[in-house]
Amino acid sequence: MKYAQSMRIGEWGEFLHIRMKEEKDSRWFELECVPKDYIFSKEDRPQNLDSPVCDSIPVIDLSISKAANGLNQPVEEILKASQEFGFFQVINHGIPEKTVTDAMSVLKEFFDMQSKDTETGTVPHKKGYIYTSSTDFVKDGVHLWRENVKHPCHPLEECVHLWPDKPTRYQEVIAAYLVEIQKLSSRILEMICEGLGLKQGYFKDTSEVQLLSSNFYPPCPDPSLTLGILPHYDPSLITLLYQGGSTGLQVMKDGQWINVGAIPDAFVVNIGNQLEIISNQKLKSVKHRVVTSTHETRRSIATFVNPSPDCIIEPAKILVNELEPSLYTASLYKEYVHRNNAFGEYTAAIQNALHIDG
Ligand code: OGA
Ligand code: NI
Repeated sequence: MKYAQSMRIGEWGEFLHIRMKEEKDSRWFELECVPKDYIFSKEDRPQNLDSPVCDSIPVIDLSISKAANGLNQPVEEILKASQEFGFFQVINHGIPEKTVTDAMSVLKEFFDMQSKDTETGTVPHKKGYIYTSSTDFVKDGVHLWRENVKHPCHPLEECVHLWPDKPTRYQEVIAAYLVEIQKLSSRILEMICEGLGLKQGYFKDTSEVQLLSSNFYPPCPDPSLTLGILPHYDPSLITLLYQGGSTGLQVMKDGQWINVGAIPDAFVVNIGNQLEIISNQKLKSVKHRVVTSTHETRRSIATFVNPSPDCIIEPAKILVNELEPSLYTASLYKEYVHRNNAFGEYTAAIQNALHIDG
């Protein structure tokens, strides 16, 4: 109902009633201006959003195997990209399209079902998963422009029933997605083993635990003031991210933010801090962030492939020698997580869910 000057008293009452209901029903992001508590300080805001940034993160076709020169082409490409960018995208990865579109649509339904009341929109620390709406304080009292759900996924059969049970298909669909992600991550890690000259299966113990973190970034009235995720490094071994052909992810390269190109079927893979340590910095864990858009909704599913809590993380012996001494001291993964508050304010909750007690 639209306001009109000629409205009679009764119509006015109805108009106001509808407006109030609309306001109550609208979600936190359905506003014309960015609210004050979403505006980052000048230093934290995404600068140079308008300056041209190239989309040069390598895209690697996993269906190509041996090249004419006998080298395994994807292995070479993965190594090079991981050294230069810490990021690459994979296509022809073998994960059925339906598994991925089902996961995206069940997560869309999940976020759509969350409370529409901005004050009570947060349902934190539910058993087995953590849902946070944008109403969480993130940095100096400023909120991120996103909603997020996180849950542990290992061992799958023990945690699946602790995940959200609405929509009803959630557990089944996400479990099927994770089975595929597990296969793809093992395959990529085997290629990294080969590229680094490590023995097959070297990452078996350090890649056992999956943690899912899915994000919903609505359009934002002024992307120059907000951020979807602050610049960070992933505390994982590797991370596999599905971004459904949307933009917004940026990676730091030579002091500049560059865009990760939007390729609908691709997975974005990045090297986490643990693999940087194990590779003695041959592969790089690189800073990244998410910026918002005035017109595009971004949805993503990040799966962190993590070591189990009691794994010792240290540079692989064969990558350390007199010329290239070890750059890190050995540490248990759970100690690393503690020391670095690796999952921010949810570190304790995630640690408990992951049974990291140290
Ligand atoms: C992360 C991350 C990017 C995205 O969860 O660590 O970098 O697009 N996510 O959601
Ligand atoms: Ni990340």
